Amino acid sequence: MPSPLRLQKFLSRCGVASRRKAEEYIAQGRVQVDGKVITAMGEQITPGKQKVYFDGKEVVAEERFIYILLNKPKGYVTTLSDPQGRPIVTSLLSGIQERVYPVGRLDLDTEGALLLTNDGDLAQSILHPSHEVTKTYEAEVKGHPPSEAIKRLEKGILLENRKTAPAKIQIKQQKTKTTVIIITIHEGRKRQVKKMFEAIGHPVIALKRLAYGALTLDGLSLGKYKILQQKDLEKIFSNKFLYKHKNS
Ligand code: URA
Repeated sequence: MPSPLRLQKFLSRCGVASRRKAEEYIAQGRVQVDGKVITAMGEQITPGKQKVYFDGKEVVAEERFIYILLNKPKGYVTTLSDPQGRPIVTSLLSGIQERVYPVGRLDLDTEGALLLTNDGDLAQSILHPSHEVTKTYEAEVKGHPPSEAIKRLEKGILLENRKTAPAKIQIKQQKTKTTVIIITIHEGRKRQVKKMFEAIGHPVIALKRLAYGALTLDGLSLGKYKILQQKDLEKIFSNKFLYKHKNS
């Protein structure tokens, strides 16, 4: 008999969601064990011994783990369902049988690299701040931020009473009314890049995620996806910076 494990871990192992998201589902009363709704976090279950249901459907272990990199277009939500009926990212994965979910999020109007998997442990490692997985974005911002403002972002600025971790920034192109900037961060706060540029008075007008760690889109066109291999996964955790930044 397999050893007992926490309910949220079981749900993520079975591909329902990342552990963090599974905790939310438990708190929302969407998970049942042997017919009883569980909302407390400490519940231990033994796979095979108890029956677990999510939104009324039995949860069974996935046969294999799968890792997908999608080039998300604008206009798609990174949740698995949307009460407003907007298109969801998983609708772009024709031919994928496994129940995968996005690792982290991208805003509706943000495009670019989005990982999807049914491997809760890997999703957790990528999302956990201790692993400092870098995420690189190309942001087109209004106006021309002065170098003093860029330095403040690089050092870390206060956002909602909490300082951001140091960022790496490179000016890619100055246009007449906007600037294209490459920014690498390793946190994943909600709307973080947009909030950072808002804080220095240069709002983002277009945002694209170029890479997780050293895993880039590498020619993948908008709306297309590829299945990742072990060597691709290793690139995610490589903390090499992709772009030559001034101070690195
Ligand atoms: N930062 C943002 O502001 N939006 C995203 O979608 C991703 C990072």
